[in-house]
Amino acid sequence: MAVFVSTINLKGGVGKTQMTVALAEFLALEHHKKVLVIDLDAQTNATVSLIAEEAWLEKDRRKETLAQLFLDKLENTSCFDIRRAIVKKVSNVGGGIENLDLLPSSPRLLEIQDSLAFVPVGRFFVANPVTILKNAVYDLLDEYDFVLIDCPPYLGITTLNGIYISNYYLIPCIPDILSTYGIPLILDRIKKFIEATRWNIRPLGIVISMYRAQSRLHSTMIQDLQNRSQLPESDPRWTPRIFNTKIPLAAKSAEAAEFSVSVNTLKQKYGYGNLYEQYKNLTEEFLSYVE
Ligand SMILES: Nc1ncnc2c1ncn2[C@@H]1O[C@H](COP(=O)(O)OP(=O)(O)OP(=O)(O)O)[C@@H](O)[C@H]1O
Ligand SMILES: [Mg+2]
Repeated sequence: MAVFVSTINLKGGVGKTQMTVALAEFLALEHHKKVLVIDLDAQTNATVSLIAEEAWLEKDRRKETLAQLFLDKLENTSCFDIRRAIVKKVSNVGGGIENLDLLPSSPRLLEIQDSLAFVPVGRFFVANPVTILKNAVYDLLDEYDFVLIDCPPYLGITTLNGIYISNYYLIPCIPDILSTYGIPLILDRIKKFIEATRWNIRPLGIVISMYRAQSRLHSTMIQDLQNRSQLPESDPRWTPRIFNTKIPLAAKSAEAAEFSVSVNTLKQKYGYGNLYEQYKNLTEEFLSYVE
């Protein structure tokens, strides 16, 4: 049965999407796992880094993105078909990675999720709007080893849909004040969600992102997080484990997200500034915690 992992941080631009995509590619290519990436973000960054924009446009035209799943619930229609929506063999590595699939997003999701939040209870066509994704993916549980969910930088209805199917969540985090400030808010919000739904999602850990070894601030913040992770979980200052692997700040990293640049290997895609080695280590560490 698939293990579901959501990537969450309330701060934007901390490297969530790149980390989710890289983890998916490494799991599929180097560990032969069957992986599905679900792009829950209306910014569609994971989508356009895994498929060509023209291919995405065609999916959107055919109503084969996640936006349609949610729109169906608003309009009481049933246009969305998850098997048609999933794109197989995605990524710009080697013309597509055999075991890697994508459930694409659409900017239309932004408007739809706002509408979902304002549908009065009782007027809604499903029992609870956070269960929409769970009901849709139910048939896929045995088809994947891992389902990685790239969430937007807020805890709205779409993110809660991701949380409600996830076994774990991963917190990518730049070790600075603003990016770490939100961690207790995430932990608290998810704790309340667990209390309300009884869905048992666990934090897998914090992954340090865009790390600069020379930065005093980064070392101080990492030390602080490490100290807090040693506290008992009941302590309000507690934070989850920090992965040993740190993803470095890598110049030219944005190019890795360009689908139009086709490459043959992961080493070529992430082979500058130590990024390849660290994503490889991250994937191994990830597997050691979930398996
Ligand atoms: N390790 C890295 N080093 C340098 N740049 C990076 C790194 N990881 C990601 N980036 C770049 O930083 C930008 C933000 O990364 P990404 O989109 O992964 O963040 P995000 O947390 O998903 O953002 P959002 O909150 O908007 O979804 C992108 O341009 C990406 O290419
Ligand atoms: Mg993102």
